[in-house]
Amino acid sequence: MIDIEQLIEETIANKENSYSPYSNFRVSASLVTKDGEVFRGVNIENASYSPTICAERSAIAGAVSSGKRSFDTIIITGDSDMTFPCGVCRQVMAEFFDEDTKIIIANSKEDYKTYTLEDILPFGFGKKDLDD
Ligand code: THU
Repeated sequence: MIDIEQLIEETIANKENSYSPYSNFRVSASLVTKDGEVFRGVNIENASYSPTICAERSAIAGAVSSGKRSFDTIIITGDSDMTFPCGVCRQVMAEFFDEDTKIIIANSKEDYKTYTLEDILPFGFGKKDLDD
């Protein structure tokens, strides 16, 4: 079992690895697979701006690159009060998360909220639409 509060603290600490010299806005994510492995992600910016990758997509890319596609939880923390994922990250989450995947937005281990993909991306487009 993962210790969510411990993982929130580690996720906040890992903001130090954010590469965000242009925005100075750090984001950190920890993605827990259904089999209990943890993949980290931070935002990685670029002088050309548009190649910037968000923390959430960094974490998902790392996990998928290691053959993991089933996710229990993602913890997201950033430099604002309750940093929610951007629209692009929500769409990438929709590709891999199921209805039970917990999306935890954290300010601290005492102050966090848990959502589902349906909460943050209602009426989304996905694989199911291509099967119709
Ligand atoms: N950012 C993330 O990493 N995740 C989000 O969901 C929101 C935005 C990053 C991108 C950029 O490096 C910085 O935050 C400011 O937009």
